Amino acid sequence: FNHLVIMAGGVGSRFWPMSTEEKPKQFIDVLGTGRSLLQLTLDRFSTVCPLSNIWVVTNKKYQSVVAEQLPEIDPTHILLEPCRRNTAPCIAYVSWRIKKECPNANIIVTPSDHVVANVQEFRRVVTSCLKFTSETDAILTLGMKPTRPETGYGYIQADLSVNSARNTEVFRVDSFREKPDLPTAIEYISKSNYFWNAGIFIWSVHTIVNAFRVYQPALSKIFEGLMPYYGTPGEQAKIDEAYPQCENISVDYAIMEKAEEIFVCPAEFGWSDLGTWGSLWEQSKRDLYGNACIGNNIKMFDSHNCIVHTTQQQRVVIQGLDDCIVAEQDGVLLICKRSEEQRIKQFSE
Ligand code: GDD
Ligand code: MG
Repeated sequence: FNHLVIMAGGVGSRFWPMSTEEKPKQFIDVLGTGRSLLQLTLDRFSTVCPLSNIWVVTNKKYQSVVAEQLPEIDPTHILLEPCRRNTAPCIAYVSWRIKKECPNANIIVTPSDHVVANVQEFRRVVTSCLKFTSETDAILTLGMKPTRPETGYGYIQADLSVNSARNTEVFRVDSFREKPDLPTAIEYISKSNYFWNAGIFIWSVHTIVNAFRVYQPALSKIFEGLMPYYGTPGEQAKIDEAYPQCENISVDYAIMEKAEEIFVCPAEFGWSDLGTWGSLWEQSKRDLYGNACIGNNIKMFDSHNCIVHTTQQQRVVIQGLDDCIVAEQDGVLLICKRSEEQRIKQFSE
């Protein structure tokens, strides 16, 4: 009964020029492994559930790239959003869609832009988590040990004094806070019972549908109302009509900050959200001078702590550059300070 949902409709604007509206980062071989982040996501879950139970939710304009990159997925399991409404409508849609096909489904929802170093440990943890939610009516998240006061993540306050009787790796959550400001994030990471939300959610279809009914009645009404059309030729037209009416809100604000029965499984498997060039630099293999070079023909002289990324067969020679991002893609060349990476969205406009 295990189903996997891959969310692949984001834009990745802080990863420009590699990531663009036409081809966001999840469809790109960011790490130079020969597989895109989306493909690596599928590979990571290969032992967790059967291929026939895998769903991808994406924007309409990425339908062909998803189908091309994941030929093993049932094409009718690629759900298409006509417009961007963030992750709450995405999860509501796929949850009711799965409910129609399999009312007893147990679901794991994952982003498509993460990197996991220890895949074996990752599989062990998610399998154990799926077992927990198949027996307990609970929302379960994966908690990552924070290493910096990152304001782009969600924070989980865990009650580490009692673990769940059903699974000793799982603890009750006291509160969930999405994207806090910097002083709050600094306070959180000074305590040992706060974790980053990995953005991976595990729940039964029953649990998540009920949570939407309680905390997001308007979204529930929309997707519940479309039940008769799911899996029929009329589905897409109904979704196209309904989707623009959905509130633009992430599941973190819509459900996680409000729900009561939340649990967390603190885990360590070398997790990283490839949100920015800095995160790719941190995650990549670096030379003696701290330079991470991803590309075929890059030479560095007297340079330190740079991230250089090229995809073409282009020859790149850099001298005397410190702490910079150098990224080249499809005729665009970006050179900027690593410390200014939050402004990249603005540079690209
Ligand atoms: N289908 C679809 N539609 N997918 C979407 C949409 C959408 O409108 N918006 C975002 N996604 C996908 C992205 O492609 C990504 O894989 C995933 O959903 C998460 O979206 P992000 O936009 O990357 O979220 P975030 O990084 O700001 O925050 C989330 O992830 C953090 C960890 O990476 C939250 O869950 C945080 O709490 C969490 O810490
Ligand atoms: Mg993200």
